[in-house]
Amino acid sequence: MTKEKKLEKLNKEWSQKIKSPLLKTCNQIVVGDGNPNADIIIIGEAPGKKEDESGQPFVGAAGKFLDQMLDNINLKRDNIYITNIVKCRPPNNRDPLPQEKEGFWPWLLDEINLIKPKLIITLGRHSLSNFIENPIISQVHGTIVDKNIPKIGAIKIYALYHPAAALYNGSMRETLIKDFKKIPKILKSID
Ligand code: URA
Repeated sequence: MTKEKKLEKLNKEWSQKIKSPLLKTCNQIVVGDGNPNADIIIIGEAPGKKEDESGQPFVGAAGKFLDQMLDNINLKRDNIYITNIVKCRPPNNRDPLPQEKEGFWPWLLDEINLIKPKLIITLGRHSLSNFIENPIISQVHGTIVDKNIPKIGAIKIYALYHPAAALYNGSMRETLIKDFKKIPKILKSID
């Protein structure tokens, strides 16, 4: 079976068996998207309104900003795999609760294990906190953290601000754009 088919099967199976209180309020489950052979997995927080309507991750304003930053480093959506820790929209876009993130964690682990990326890029504190306890994102953004994760093994995590938070904050926006531009060099250094 190709990796594409395996990933499709994995996401279908998880969509059928996942149990989350968010299923009662969201429109649909938003599964990851992109290239299962990618070197990079980008992990966001949870779907927003546009994603909940369309069923695709990062298609709203934050997604458009993300696409621009990918374009700056000559990457397209099909060069990466993009997903969220929580795959159902929390009501009114509130922050996902710890138990909601925990509920979706095994699904994310399965995605990471199948894709076996060289680099995990986390967007925002909620995504990063799955890998690092109580992170201070203003300190760790733009740095590589080496982690050993049970069931995954050694992996490099690159922490970035969330594009939705940075979109309307001038200095955070500049920082995120700068951090993003470091990605090609980081990838090369891993090879
Ligand atoms: N923000 C996220 O974290 N994920 C999405 O899919 C959209 C916005």
